[in-house]
Amino acid sequence: MITMRSVVADTLGEPSEVLHLHARPIPEPGPGQVRIRVAAVPVHASDLHTIRGRYGFTPEFPTVPGIESVGVIDELGSGTDGLTAGQRVITIGVTGTWQEYVVAEAERVLPVPVGMSNSTAAQLLANPLTAVILTGDELDVRPGEWLLQTAAGSTVGQSVIQLGAHAGFKTLNVVRRRSAVEDILALGGTAVICTEDEDVRERIADIAGRDGVSKAIDCVGGQLGADISRALAPHGELIVYGALSTHRQTDPDKLTIPVFARSLIYETKTVRGFWLFRWLTETPKDRMAATIDRTLQLADSGVLRVPEGQPIPVEKFGEAVSLAEAPAHGGKPLLVFD
Ligand SMILES: NC(=O)c1ccc[n+]([C@@H]2O[C@H](COP(=O)([O-])OP(=O)(O)OC[C@H]3O[C@@H](n4cnc5c(N)ncnc54)[C@H](OP(=O)(O)O)[C@@H]3O)[C@@H](O)[C@H]2O)c1
Repeated sequence: MITMRSVVADTLGEPSEVLHLHARPIPEPGPGQVRIRVAAVPVHASDLHTIRGRYGFTPEFPTVPGIESVGVIDELGSGTDGLTAGQRVITIGVTGTWQEYVVAEAERVLPVPVGMSNSTAAQLLANPLTAVILTGDELDVRPGEWLLQTAAGSTVGQSVIQLGAHAGFKTLNVVRRRSAVEDILALGGTAVICTEDEDVRERIADIAGRDGVSKAIDCVGGQLGADISRALAPHGELIVYGALSTHRQTDPDKLTIPVFARSLIYETKTVRGFWLFRWLTETPKDRMAATIDRTLQLADSGVLRVPEGQPIPVEKFGEAVSLAEAPAHGGKPLLVFD
């Protein structure tokens, strides 16, 4: 039997303990499916939280993690017209990608523009796509408006800054390291607040002035998320899409944002969530295809420049896993299969 290399989480637990490289049978595509020989897959913090049982879904174990991939179609099932063997594609919301071959429904793969690198393609349909949705369909940030965001140096955050520079909205960017400030400004961020040595609510008031900021996105949660919602102008809207500050906690009751009720009530604000997986399953097909296509075009035209990933051979997956959550880790760890 010909086998492939798969990174498998044998049980629920800490990724450094439960992930192992296994040899598994190469899957066969059924009707309406294609098989992809995978070239590169990113390691996201959310992949690790899934393994820890702290994400929005918990798979059955053993499981192969991974939510994105780029590779080349190497076999087609029946009824997959329009796709050809040898075509380079990315997968849309297909899970279990940390392995050499992935089988996907034909409607869940998308050809990659010729000039696009594997690093960019492999990372496009989680973070940049989220930035496009949050600033577009979700908050409809208009030219001239402020958008306040936390963890501005994240891949999502960088995409938001680039979208702001392109579309003409202003970004007020919160980072936790002073050394990250220059990078944010160089990328086109309008203003930066550093929590290392600045008071967030005071600085938001200084920068945004009398009109304040009405739209915000937060992926840190905890006290910072609470401060962001409290700093918004009356009727302001905050979308919470991550909880980086709480990731290491094991007590589910601690995964909270202590929102200041007085400001929420009397300034009639909204705090709501966003999760790409729900968007991928609930959005009407036409609208989903248009938003994904727009993201691809923005990357292909150079408006969205996804930070270059750090390629790591799949055998060294342990390095990729620890890098994914290391402070100031820079580009995404990318598991590569030669
Ligand atoms: N809801 C959704 O559908 C959805 C979709 C995509 C992404 N996300 C979420 O978006 C977030 C960013 O993801 P990403 O892949 O873009 O991140 P990333 O590229 O890995 O970067 C992580 C960033 O977060 C900062 N950070 C980490 N822990 C922090 C903390 N405790 N306080 C403040 N800042 C912190 C890091 O700052 P340093 O540079 O200082 O280390 C870094 O800039 C994650 O929470 C992810 O789960 C959610």
